[in-house]
Amino acid sequence: SQTESQILVIFGASGDLTKRKLIPALYELYLRNFLPQKFAVLGVSRTNLSDEDFRDKMTEFLPSAEEQKAQVNDFLDKLYYQPLATDDAYDYPILRDRLTTLAKQNTIAENFIFYLSTPPKLYDVIPANLASVDLNQTADGFRRLIIEKPFGTDLESAKRLNKKLLDYFEEEQIYRIDHYLGKESVQNMLVTRFANGIFEPIWNHNFIERVEITSAEALGVEERGGYYDNSGAMRDMVQNHLMQMVGMVAMEPPVVIEADAIRNEVLKVFQSLRPISEEDVVNNVIRGQYIESHIKGEAVKGYRDEKGVNPESRTETFFAMKFFIDNWRWSGVPFYIRTGKKLPTRVTEVVIHFKKTPHHLFGNLADDQHSHNQLVIRIQPDEGILLKFGMKVPGAGFNVQTVNMDFHYDELRNVHLPAAYERLLLDCMQGDATLYSRGDAVVKAWEFVQPILNAWANNPEIPVYGYPAGTWGPDVADQLIENGTWRYPCKN
Ligand code: BG6
Repeated sequence: SQTESQILVIFGASGDLTKRKLIPALYELYLRNFLPQKFAVLGVSRTNLSDEDFRDKMTEFLPSAEEQKAQVNDFLDKLYYQPLATDDAYDYPILRDRLTTLAKQNTIAENFIFYLSTPPKLYDVIPANLASVDLNQTADGFRRLIIEKPFGTDLESAKRLNKKLLDYFEEEQIYRIDHYLGKESVQNMLVTRFANGIFEPIWNHNFIERVEITSAEALGVEERGGYYDNSGAMRDMVQNHLMQMVGMVAMEPPVVIEADAIRNEVLKVFQSLRPISEEDVVNNVIRGQYIESHIKGEAVKGYRDEKGVNPESRTETFFAMKFFIDNWRWSGVPFYIRTGKKLPTRVTEVVIHFKKTPHHLFGNLADDQHSHNQLVIRIQPDEGILLKFGMKVPGAGFNVQTVNMDFHYDELRNVHLPAAYERLLLDCMQGDATLYSRGDAVVKAWEFVQPILNAWANNPEIPVYGYPAGTWGPDVADQLIENGTWRYPCKN
């Protein structure tokens, strides 16, 4: 079949993503016998390397144990490299010829996936250049294009990019990466909701008080100051990863588990987001930036002292926001999302806060303020799910305490939790776009967040709150939530 014979072309093959994520993911797929029977990877970038040089470079990111040596070598044999001025159409006949030769030599059919792991400014250049040598279409077999994030830097640029891509490729050929959708635990949200008769009947405004999504990172901007300073948490995490998680939590059951059925439902969620006004930005959006501090006795730099960052930068490294989804299911239920760098720990989770019981029979002071019931969906690390509920404290009286019922993925013995890129690459090889963002949804998500960018740009009075590195962001973020606080995973 087509799926069993294909070549993956990686543009930006000398970059970080290729060695850290893509090659290790491909190796895992190889080990598990998931790669197509006839398969080759062609790395492409400016750097002048031979096939051998490229293989050598990649070896470092593959297992070094003696037992795996034979397999690693066998896998490396599938890697090839072609130096190319990727921004220059004149170079593309070279690519065309190389692909033809490679396919012939290895008796692989001319089914090609082009993975754009390049600087974003090439996202519309490479597709045009591919089209100039007819690599964008074929009468038999397939041509697919994978585009890394960021997909645009604002609403206009995202629309423009979509339009340009569609000049050369059909929507069905375009796979927009959001690696959060590749996470096993994000996909499991659909199963939790739609395979269990006990959750979905109460998954709405009648029973849910609020929804909280946190994606915290302990790391700072590391070596990516230059990129990050032009991006910030909103563009880096919120418009894409957090919004996709909102889609999974909030969508209606799809008609079937298929790419368009699921993606239609995600789009509907985005279409129902209550538009944000400038006033909302002042009241319901908090941005912060980490400042120097001490973590466990060690001095930690502030964001403005990081390499590549403007010393007067107002770029946000923390973002929190309250918003609503104006539809039948979610009417009146506030959604709170939050993300940041240099927070106390790395954790991503979705917390569903259920309403309290209509009447309080058991009066124990601390607990009757709120509901005992939360469903915590832990995306990472320690992937799993936790249900909190009230239980009688043994002994005299009727005191209630909150206890946990939980499941952790690591309890499933001998089950491999595939890395996001493993799953996504495999899906694209099989022509399944379910876990890739569709153009219309990406644009809708931009449409939703664009007023925030506008308000920040037009109104320098809107504060950027400093927060000491290693804390949970600015204190004001707590005031966003009316009847309660965020869940602080380190503390409870
Ligand atoms: C990337 C962002 O898309 O996601 C990074 O550019 C961020 O800044 C990363 O660190 C987080 O991904 P994960 O899978 O580690 O949660």
